[in-house]
Amino acid sequence: MIKKFLMTPGPTQIPSEVLLASAQPIIHHRTGDYSDLFARVNENLKYVYQTRNEVISFASSGTGAMESAVVNLCSPGDKVLIASCGKFGERWRDLSQVYGLDYDYREYEWGTPVVPADIGQALADDPAIKVVFVTHSETSTGVVNDMQAIGAAVAGSDAVLVSDSISGMGSAELKTDAWGIDVVVSGSQKALMIPPGLAFVSVSAKAWGLVEKSTLPKYYFDWTKARKALAQDKPTTAFTPAVSLMVGLDKALDMIRAEGLEQVFERHIILGRATRAAVKGLGLELFSPDDDRCSSVTSVKVPDGVDDNKLRTLIRDKYGVQLAGGQGPIKGKIFRIGHCGYYNYTDIIVAITALELALKELGHPVELGSGVSKAQAVFGEEMV
Ligand SMILES: Cc1ncc(COP(=O)(O)O)c(C=O)c1O
Repeated sequence: MIKKFLMTPGPTQIPSEVLLASAQPIIHHRTGDYSDLFARVNENLKYVYQTRNEVISFASSGTGAMESAVVNLCSPGDKVLIASCGKFGERWRDLSQVYGLDYDYREYEWGTPVVPADIGQALADDPAIKVVFVTHSETSTGVVNDMQAIGAAVAGSDAVLVSDSISGMGSAELKTDAWGIDVVVSGSQKALMIPPGLAFVSVSAKAWGLVEKSTLPKYYFDWTKARKALAQDKPTTAFTPAVSLMVGLDKALDMIRAEGLEQVFERHIILGRATRAAVKGLGLELFSPDDDRCSSVTSVKVPDGVDDNKLRTLIRDKYGVQLAGGQGPIKGKIFRIGHCGYYNYTDIIVAITALELALKELGHPVELGSGVSKAQAVFGEEMV
């Protein structure tokens, strides 16, 4: 019997309470019952987002909400700035290309963060920049960017700041309003602890100013339609929502509120810290920075002489632990341990145990327990 442990940075493990809630008989979405649930979900999303702005929901993956940000904020030929440090930063460039924007693409070495001062300088040099796109938690590398400093760099300019927090929302601190982040995109299948299929976007008053001027075509992803539906006495969505996912989200957000947002972030910081300590204890090299900010996913360099695919396949098929590989130019060079969402110290111990055993089986010199003991030491220190 193989027991499965999903340790990827999306999709992530789902609490049984959430799965059971989603399995309830479906309710109709144009009813008071659904509106009551949707109103509660919206309030709780604002709590997790740390915002007073509206949070719009779409039945789509996270990329749908990213695309919605481009088509609702921009007009053809608009000047935008993209600060990227990985695969998901590239997605802002791809979207900008598809929609005919005039984009300034700044790429930072993968595995390192965006430099906030560069954004401030770029905006000072070119006041025509209307939108700045950045990735909060760059899932492809494990880097979490300093959104507070990036918010400060954009503050005072006319530009609207858009953050892809798809893997950061609910696992890495993000004070949407206090840090001046105008638009924050997130998705369901990461730290929000529900299956894939929902995406969210918060929109500030400054961003609505751009929406009014935007002429790119949009229909399903039209924020103005979504806002109107949300503003009704009985809030709803413009189109049929993913009802069962929303019911699951209601439960997941309840759980986040019960734990408390600060405690949720603290738990993720400890999970990241323990994972990094374990990786170093095993004699492996980190690819993500050794930094408490990187609390969503830990990326690790594949040691010389070890085949990444063989390693992760063995870990999955023999020990039931699913890790993620590298993407793009770092495919085969790193693997990633996801710990955003419904994760606790036992999950890390299981993942590191499987990693140690598989490395040994593949002939890599490793002392069993050398990683696990380091993770335990972090937990022992933090949890007493
Ligand atoms: C930071 C980030 N941006 C964008 C995406 C794309 O989201 P989706 O696959 O839900 O469209 C992901 C998914 O892994 C992500 O982690």
